[in-house]
Amino acid sequence: MLDKGELEEFTNKVRDNSDILTVISKYVALKRRGSQYWGCCPFHNEKTPSFTVSPEKGFFYCFGCHIGGNIFRFISLIEHITYFEAVKLQAERLNIPLPTSNQNKTPSELKLDQQKKDLYEINTLAKNFFHSCLVNTQYGEVGRKYLKLRGITDEAIKDFEIGFAPDSWNALSKALIKKKGKTSEQLIMAGLAKLKKNGLDIYDNFRNRVMIPIVDINGKVVGFGGRILDEQKSFVNQNNFEVPKYLNSPETLIFNKKNLLFGLNKALPEIRNLGYVIIVEGYMDVISVYSAGIKNVVASLGTAFTEEQAKLLSRFTQKIIFCYDNDAAGQKATMRALEIFLNPGAEIKIVVVPDAKDPDEYIHKNGAESFRNLLSKALSMIDYQIQYSLKTTEHMTLEGKINALRKILPFFVKIKDFTMQSEYRKRIAKELMLEEDIIIAETKKFLENPIQQITPIENVPKPVKKLSSLDELQLTAGRMILNMAWYETDTLQYAISVLKIEAFAKVHQEIIHYLKNCIEKNQSPSDITASQYLNDEAISEISNLLIEGNNFAEEEKSQAYAESIKTLKSIMIKKNYAKIIEEIKSLEKYDSNFADNPEYIQKVNKSLELKRELNKLTK
Ligand code: UTP
Ligand code: MN
Repeated sequence: MLDKGELEEFTNKVRDNSDILTVISKYVALKRRGSQYWGCCPFHNEKTPSFTVSPEKGFFYCFGCHIGGNIFRFISLIEHITYFEAVKLQAERLNIPLPTSNQNKTPSELKLDQQKKDLYEINTLAKNFFHSCLVNTQYGEVGRKYLKLRGITDEAIKDFEIGFAPDSWNALSKALIKKKGKTSEQLIMAGLAKLKKNGLDIYDNFRNRVMIPIVDINGKVVGFGGRILDEQKSFVNQNNFEVPKYLNSPETLIFNKKNLLFGLNKALPEIRNLGYVIIVEGYMDVISVYSAGIKNVVASLGTAFTEEQAKLLSRFTQKIIFCYDNDAAGQKATMRALEIFLNPGAEIKIVVVPDAKDPDEYIHKNGAESFRNLLSKALSMIDYQIQYSLKTTEHMTLEGKINALRKILPFFVKIKDFTMQSEYRKRIAKELMLEEDIIIAETKKFLENPIQQITPIENVPKPVKKLSSLDELQLTAGRMILNMAWYETDTLQYAISVLKIEAFAKVHQEIIHYLKNCIEKNQSPSDITASQYLNDEAISEISNLLIEGNNFAEEEKSQAYAESIKTLKSIMIKKNYAKIIEEIKSLEKYDSNFADNPEYIQKVNKSLELKRELNKLTK
């Protein structure tokens, strides 16, 4: 079993092999200023950068929302995973093998791991079975014919490992159970087979379908989409069951449609290369666009683009071109997808293919060059929105005009450039035949009434507690001292010998406990052990005090240190003084005989004493 030390060693190793700047740059555009890097915080909405990364210190910190920490805290926050999962993820990215830690897992965790492993394995076996069936067998003949008819090349079949599920009730199950030693339960669990009504036997779920493996970002097969051969959209069979055009694997432990983008694993190199991604609706669109040599393409699997998918993509690019189906459903889905991107950061464009139902058909009709040409003329969000509202809203009556305008406004108000804004205002006015004044008035109304506005996906800034100036001073002075203590623990010893620990802000007291612990164990403080010992608030504060806490030149340091100690002393006295004055006031108010009350006299004396102390300090 891995003990704490080994775990720490592993974490250290991953951290030492990582570059915080490279990692954070994947998510945040950073610009260098001095020894630090700045960008807009990914954890709250902001337009001017207050998020900073210090590569030399190995910390990040946001001066807006006060979140900070080391590389793993960043990964855990942005990926919504635990701290240790972040360590593991980063290790995987760097190909650092995980230490064997199975003994640390509970039996149920181990069971879950095993189940997932089984699912990946059985899906891979099924993929191979289907592919071989399509390419090598007589059963696959119909599938081959169908794909050929659709213009899917052998190369595309190989690239996407497309397969065919034969028209049989048990071909797959038989093969996997008899030849590969899989069980009925495993087949059912993977959604590859179903239980018959008798509750004993199973039958293949996918039959007589072209099989498209769905592969996750790590290249593992997580599910399938199986297409019927008929050209009909879907049909109702003799038992009155609707047979869908595409039958997809059910959601399993490893298949979660809303978190996946079809084709992403294959598209990644080109997305990185070209700096943008094309999102289409369907499997076949991806296959055709990719085969036409435009490889930065993914599909959202069905029509609804999800926030999870947006987030997944934002790890790789902020530039997206939506190219959904030409029909009403596709355009409606485009609109919904755009709403997800209303918050700043992403650069979204839209292509609507003319005279074809989807990109797949367009490419087969007009060729790759023509499609590339469309991409180069993609519409901006606002242009698309204007077009869409005009097309879908009655805008002859005044009421209709206002309705159409209100649909455009959420996109219009996102235009930052003043000249552009005025250009667009003119255009909207012209298209809707409205006075510009009305647009100005409606814009104002819209901005004043945020309920109408579509809320951005998340990242609502946390309200930052307003600090009194004493609290602020206390934090600043504490930061100076703790910054020094982080690098030279001796300086802490002195500070806590002349100050009571209560003189520090609460969060600093926690950090001091940690530092004392380090001193006792004869260890230097580090981001790794701090993360084990301290809560999130304290970790953020460490980032803050390391990045900001000590901007003094070497020769000014001892002076600043002494000043900070004095400041903390006087703040404590001031706070105690304020407290005692409150108590005195309260006694005067509620005790009619307060002058004779010994408690009162004692408090007054104490207050005088504090006052004298304070005077001495500030002299
Ligand atoms: P489309 O009907 O546009 O798919 O649905 P397509 O890829 O263009 O299909 P072809 O060209 O007719 O073969 C878009 C996507 O919606 C999902 C699939 O992921 C499909 O690719 N879908 C559609 C289903 O899951 N089930 C269905 O019955 C239909
Ligand atoms: Mn389609």
